[in-house]
Amino acid sequence: MNIEERIAFLRTELHKHNYLYYAENAPVIADRQFDLLLEELQKLEAEHPEFDDPNSPTRRVGGAVTKEFRNLAHRFPMLSLANTYSKEEIEEFEARIKKLLETEVRYVCELKYDGAAVSLTYKNGKLESAVTRGDGEKGDEITNNIKTIRNLPLVLQGNDFPNDFDIRGEVLMDRAGFQKLNEDRVEAGYEPFANPRNSAAGTLKMQDSAIVASRPLHCFAYNLASKNLPFEYHSEGLKLARQWGFSIPPFEEVVYGIEGIMDYINHWDKARKDLPFDIDGVVIKVDSLKQQEMLGFTAKSPRWAIAYKFKAEEVVTELLSISYQVGRTGAITPVANLKPVHLAGTVVKRASLHNADIIQSLDLHLGDKVYVEKGGEIIPKITGAAVEQRALFAEPVQFISECPECNTPLVRTEGEAQHYCPNEDNCPPQVKGRIEHYISRRAMNIDGIGTETVGLLYDKGAIKDAADLYELTYEDFEGWDGWKDKSIRNLLEGIEKSKEVAFPKVLFAIGIRYVGETVAKKLAAHFKSMEALKHASLEELVDVEEIGDKIAESVLTYFQNAAHLHFIERLKQHGVQMELEDSGALLSDKLAGKSFVISGVFIKHSRDQLKMLIEQHGGKNVSGVSAKTDYLLAGENMGPSKLEKAEKLGVTIIREEDFENMIHAH
Ligand code: IVH
Repeated sequence: MNIEERIAFLRTELHKHNYLYYAENAPVIADRQFDLLLEELQKLEAEHPEFDDPNSPTRRVGGAVTKEFRNLAHRFPMLSLANTYSKEEIEEFEARIKKLLETEVRYVCELKYDGAAVSLTYKNGKLESAVTRGDGEKGDEITNNIKTIRNLPLVLQGNDFPNDFDIRGEVLMDRAGFQKLNEDRVEAGYEPFANPRNSAAGTLKMQDSAIVASRPLHCFAYNLASKNLPFEYHSEGLKLARQWGFSIPPFEEVVYGIEGIMDYINHWDKARKDLPFDIDGVVIKVDSLKQQEMLGFTAKSPRWAIAYKFKAEEVVTELLSISYQVGRTGAITPVANLKPVHLAGTVVKRASLHNADIIQSLDLHLGDKVYVEKGGEIIPKITGAAVEQRALFAEPVQFISECPECNTPLVRTEGEAQHYCPNEDNCPPQVKGRIEHYISRRAMNIDGIGTETVGLLYDKGAIKDAADLYELTYEDFEGWDGWKDKSIRNLLEGIEKSKEVAFPKVLFAIGIRYVGETVAKKLAAHFKSMEALKHASLEELVDVEEIGDKIAESVLTYFQNAAHLHFIERLKQHGVQMELEDSGALLSDKLAGKSFVISGVFIKHSRDQLKMLIEQHGGKNVSGVSAKTDYLLAGENMGPSKLEKAEKLGVTIIREEDFENMIHAH
């Protein structure tokens, strides 16, 4: 197999495994194996740009940056649907259709996915372009971003698809992914997104497709558009589209008459809360394409389809007061205290208001009757106040100017929505919050200690920062109410064990603003130690993939603070990991002191596997051949220039078998 064939082989394999995973839900290889194939393809593509393919599976990783999105016209207008909200309106729709067609009609009911619409063009089985809805006539071309969505086929399976067609779908975020994304954002000091829909729509318009790739987006197809479609019924089209590799949740139903439609609506109005993603209604479509054509369109929407929108559950209650919470970063979050009210199966007493701007735009006054809504979001939100019911002298809500916990005057940086308490060293919720963050599961994961214990220890003056944890002794807990020998030992053991936690987690745990889990991993992988990171310049920081000015400046500022340096020094003295461990345990030192260049394609191992083996046996990987290189590990089809250079410099050239013999020799 030459390189071009190997690349083609890897691409086909990866498209196939992607299809088995996402469309068939039946993967046949392990994720790790998939990653290795993908990594191999990435390497080969980087070395051989002449074999570029815009639909390569590697495009899913993102990386392409779109400075400005191109406007592209839709080949078939992207219409919207007329919305209905009641059984009566559905009855009118049904009666209208029956009258126009003069026959009993078969309908398909589907979920109405709550995300952002895209139109995808496929030519000869390959994704050619992806365009947002825009004004329905033309939209923004977002192909690079769309290609990162893993459940969307870049290359279709089978051979019975039209040569040239458009397919429409909805891009959305699943609820769990959305929640995790928001947790990460808050963790890193960013504003959370309001709901999955906004977050999906915002993500699609980001310039850096690598960030898009890291977000939990999915695309569900719902309508094909083309001149000659190879089927007669929409429901058939959905089945075929699935076979070609599109993801379509398996919930569409063919029904007849108003009863069938209403049963579907009523079922999903209840069952929607159990779906992993948000829907905002159902869509009812005439199944026969011939009948669809007969019915045609009005200026805005098709006559053959209609949306039924679920009511966002809303109630009116009274705004009693506003509380202000102080987070570990000092950010102040206003929270509305409400007169308790039943809403969507729970009693609601509080609603987050996020920041001062939101309070102002809602023009809230104390004692107002407010509308509270619970849509897809988990936390209820206030959508407005009933101004006509407001008491004459009701007081407008005034955002506080001092920290509710330590009375320090609050600050608000220009351009930021959030107010902050700047007293980071002595404001109790900030100090406690930082320690809680340090011990949390995703950071140091310290067993036997929770929020409550941190609060107690802090209040007793036993700890003022996370480094103090390592100085706690058994005696500190003796005589504590409800604390037995076992729980004290457990706690101390948990603290002791945290000294083994790997450096990237430590970097996340110390709580540098904007350094979330992912950023911490990236920084750790790049700089390898706290010491190196401490001395990194702004230029060096922004050089790291995905690290922008905002994060870089935050890291710089953190290390300019003497108290932070002292804190880190104390952690280090206590034995907390301050650098990356060597990659994997050493298997032997058979290759100690030897340097290797790998080139070409190999039969038994991927290049990454070979690199790993070299390191695991004590050797070193280098990228270019020089006089200092010990071995050139040559595969099939390696570049002639490397080979020539190696020969000239007297570098030993070995094959895969020779390498195996070297590491297996006794
Ligand atoms: S069919 C010409 N089916 O709702 C018919 N739309 O206002 C095109 N949507 O823009 C729409 N789920 O973004 C259709 N199963 C579904 C849908 C769906 C969500 C969205 C779509 C469209 C809007 C209609």
